[in-house]
Amino acid sequence: MFKTPTTLGLLIILKYSSQCLPPSFDNVLITVNEKDEKISGCITPDTLKFKGEVAKISAVNQNIPDLNRGAVRDISTKFNIDFSRNNIDIIREEAFLNLSGLEQIDLSKNNIIWIGENAFVNLPTLRLLDLAYNKISVSSRAFNNLPELRVIDLSDNNLDSFDQSWFYRTPRLDSISFRLNRLRSIPRAAFINLPSIEYLYFHSNKIEDIHPDAFKGLRNLRLLVISENRVKSFEINFHTPSELGAVGIQFNNITYISDKMLEMIRPNLRSFWITGNPWQCGCFDKLINWSIKNRVTISFVCLQYEYVCVYPKTNPYQCLEREDADFYNGFSNNFGNETKCKPHWSK
Ligand SMILES: *[C@@H]1O[C@H](CO)[C@@H](O)[C@H](O)[C@H]1NC(C)=O
Ligand SMILES: *[C@@H]1O[C@H](CO)[C@@H](O)[C@H](O)[C@H]1NC(C)=O
Ligand SMILES: *[C@@H]1O[C@H](CO)[C@@H](O)[C@H](O)[C@H]1NC(C)=O
Ligand SMILES: *[C@@H]1O[C@H](CO)[C@@H](O)[C@H](O)[C@H]1NC(C)=O
Repeated sequence: MFKTPTTLGLLIILKYSSQCLPPSFDNVLITVNEKDEKISGCITPDTLKFKGEVAKISAVNQNIPDLNRGAVRDISTKFNIDFSRNNIDIIREEAFLNLSGLEQIDLSKNNIIWIGENAFVNLPTLRLLDLAYNKISVSSRAFNNLPELRVIDLSDNNLDSFDQSWFYRTPRLDSISFRLNRLRSIPRAAFINLPSIEYLYFHSNKIEDIHPDAFKGLRNLRLLVISENRVKSFEINFHTPSELGAVGIQFNNITYISDKMLEMIRPNLRSFWITGNPWQCGCFDKLINWSIKNRVTISFVCLQYEYVCVYPKTNPYQCLEREDADFYNGFSNNFGNETKCKPHWSK
């Protein structure tokens, strides 16, 4: 091949641009293993001044609007990324590229509105992804081929629905937090493609309906928190024998629970948080007796709510499935003021 100095120069420019265009960083202050430096374009071994073994890269309180393809790339050491609090809006396909030892990414407290398809893809050692405190909507397969991913935190975002198709080839994913979003329902088989799930957090959403088969296929579910929602019925077909060790249904709108439900969750259950629901008094008594007999803690961490149970119009001492008409007007008021009475896992 015939090379003039000009084409050689062009080749060098092309090599650089193919790595860092569009650029993600514009004179951004980053810290690599406690050492500060300024970066433009993207973060690669070539652009870093730091030449040792990278263990942690952070940028905090900087202005980084978008993470484009290859924003961080070609680093092979075992390391973590902390990009919290940087006004990041968008994460595009393969923003984190060819990072064979990356274990944790903290993107909390940004402004993220959009996570594109394959935003997080082919990261063989990624275990934890923190996306809390953003404004996220997510595209399908945003999280793709992450064989070690265990924990994803989507707390305090703007999600009004969840779709398991966001996740693809994440065989070890065991914990998802949807705390403080706007979810309205949990549909049938919502996690059927994610059978490794053990911990699900839904507290502080707007959930009214949970399909009886919502958690179908979750054989290892250990913790379920649906507190601070508007759930009216907690009759769910969990996998049996149930591995549930703790269930939180505090501060909802539940009046009744069946013997079948209690028997289903009983085998491994240690804690059942039930405070702040307008329980029928017959059901409340049943729950207390059941908890004593089975050594389940029905925690009353909070005693500031006004009532513990309600007497319906007919057969007031029995625990029965009932129509709304069988309750006195306003029966569900004065329960579950979570402002006054926060459950112990909330801040
Ligand atoms: C991935 O990064 C390594 C260095 O960590 C580098 O040697 C290799 O060429 C990169 N692979 C690609 C496809 O760019
Ligand atoms: C609870 O359920 C009752 C009866 O259906 C309803 O009138 C009330 O608005 C519900 N409360 C909430 C907070 O959803
Ligand atoms: C709960 O236990 C008490 C004391 O053993 C008993 O009197 C009461 O009938 C029981 N209530 C229910 C709903 O099982
Ligand atoms: C809950 O309690 C807070 C603090 O006492 C009060 O400001 C708020 O109005 C109450 N909300 C309801 C729905 O009663």
